[in-house]
Amino acid sequence: MSSYRPLAAVVLAAGEGTRMRSATPKVLHPLCGRPMLLHVIDALTMLPLDRIVVVVGHGAESVTKTLQDQIGTDTPVEFVEQRVQRGTGDAVGVALTASAFEDLDAEDDLLVVPGDTPLLRPQTLVELVVEHRSADAAATLLTASVHDAAGYGRVVRDRHGEVTRIVEDADASDEEREIEEINTSIYCFRRPFLAPALRRLSPSNTQHEYYLTDAVGVLSGAGHRVVAVTAGDPEEVVGVNDRVQLAAAESELRRRINDAWMVSGVTMVDPSRVYVDAGVEIAADVRLLPGTILEGRTVVASGSVIGPDCRLTDAVIGERCAVSSSVVREAEVGDDCIVGPFAYLRPGSRVAAGAKVGTFVEIKNSDIGEGARVPHLSYVGDADVGAGANLGASTITANYDGTQKHRTKIGRDVHTGVHTSLRAPVEVGDGAETGAGSVVTNDVPPGALVKGVPARQARRKGAEVREDEGSGEAV
Ligand code: UD1
Ligand code: MG
Repeated sequence: MSSYRPLAAVVLAAGEGTRMRSATPKVLHPLCGRPMLLHVIDALTMLPLDRIVVVVGHGAESVTKTLQDQIGTDTPVEFVEQRVQRGTGDAVGVALTASAFEDLDAEDDLLVVPGDTPLLRPQTLVELVVEHRSADAAATLLTASVHDAAGYGRVVRDRHGEVTRIVEDADASDEEREIEEINTSIYCFRRPFLAPALRRLSPSNTQHEYYLTDAVGVLSGAGHRVVAVTAGDPEEVVGVNDRVQLAAAESELRRRINDAWMVSGVTMVDPSRVYVDAGVEIAADVRLLPGTILEGRTVVASGSVIGPDCRLTDAVIGERCAVSSSVVREAEVGDDCIVGPFAYLRPGSRVAAGAKVGTFVEIKNSDIGEGARVPHLSYVGDADVGAGANLGASTITANYDGTQKHRTKIGRDVHTGVHTSLRAPVEVGDGAETGAGSVVTNDVPPGALVKGVPARQARRKGAEVREDEGSGEAV
C-alpha cells in the first residue's frame, strides 16, 4: 500500500435481521460452525489493521459475549452499542465515539463492512484499500454488477462516469432501479472527511433512517474524490438477510472449505455430501465418504476413513481408523481403531489404539484399553476396560442405581460372555471370565470365572461349577 496511514475497521452489526425470523440475532447465526459475524472478523484480521470496532445493538449482550469468547485475534476489538437502530449512517457515527478513535491519528483510513457478508475475502478488502490510497480518495466503494439488483442501493454516476451518489432501492426512481451496479455496503473512508459528512445526513427518506450511503453524495457534492472498485466475484459480497441466503452462503463456504482440504490431500468421494466446520483439522490421506459431518474442533489423523454417514463433534480420531455410520462426541479414538457401523461414542470416552467399538454399541465416559473389543450390542458407561479385554455381545454396565452413577472396572484380558450385566460399582480382575447371562454384583478376583444369576458364584478357571452354588462369593 502506497503511503502509510493507520487503518481501522468498523463492522456494522446492530440491526435486528427481521427477515431471519429468529430469536437469535442475525449475525450470530452459524455458517460451517462459526457465527456469521466471526467470518467477517476473520477476513478483517488478515489485514494489517490497528483496531476493529464492532457496532452492536440488537442482542448486544449475546453478540458481544459470543465474540469475546470465540475471537482469536491479536487485533484489538472494541464493542460500542447503538441503542436505537437509526440507520447505517447513525451506526458509523456511534462507532466514531469508540475510545479506539480518540487517540488514533486523525488521518487514518476506515474500512466499513456489514456484519452480514460472511463470504467476503481478505484479498478483496486489500484491493479496496490499495485503490483507495492510490486514488487518494475521500471514499472508495466496493460495488458489484448483478442481474437482480432488487433491494440493493444503486450506484449513480454522472456522464463522466464519476460516482455522484447512492440511491436506496426504496427511494429510487424507475429509471434508477434499472441500474445494475449495486452498493455492497463495503467502503473505505478517510476518517477526517467522513465525520463531518455524517453530521450532514438527514432521515428524510422512505425508511426514515440515517443512511450511510448518503455520505457518499455529501462527499462527492462537496468536491471530494469518490471512487468505486467493482468486486470481481459478486457472490462474495452478498448480504445474508434471510434463511435462503444463509443456506446459499453456507453452501459456498462449505465448498471453499472442502476445496482447501482436497488441495491439501484429503479425499472426498462426493464433496457435495461432506460437511466440515471451519475449526476442523484433517490430515493428508484421510478419506471422507458421503454423509460425513465433522463439527467443532474435530481432528482426524492421516490414513483414517470416515463415513459413510458419520457425525463427529469435537472428536479426535487417530491414524488409520475406520469410523462408519457412527456418532462421536467429545471423545478420543487412538490409532488403528474400528468404530461402527452404528456406534455412539459419548463425551469423555477414550478408545485406545487398536481397539474395536462395533455395532449398536454405546460408550460413555469410559476408557477402552489398547486392543480391547466391544463388538456388538453393548452399553459401556463410566467404565475402565483393560487392554485386550473382550466384551461379549450385549454386555452392559449398569452404572446407574437410580440416584447415582458408579464406575465399573474391567481388568486386562477379561472376557465377558454374552448378556453379561455388570452392576456398578464393581471390579472384574485381570484375566477373569463371565459366563453367558451373568449378573455380576460383587467384585471378581483376577483369573476367576463367574457364572449364573445373580452371579455371585465364581470359580477359578478350569474348576467345575456347581449349579446349586447360587450365591457364593468369588473364590
Ligand atoms: C445496505 C445499504 C445498501 C446496500 C446493502 C448491501 C444503507 C442505507 N443501505 O442496505 O445500499 O446495497 O446494504 O447489502 O446502508 N445496521 C446497524 N445499525 C442500523 C442499521 C443497520 O448496525 O441502525 C447494520 C446491520 O446490522 C447490517 C448493516 O448495518 O449488518 C446493513 O444494514 P441492512 O439493514 O442489512 O441494510 P440493507 O437494507 O441491506
Ligand atoms: Mg443487509
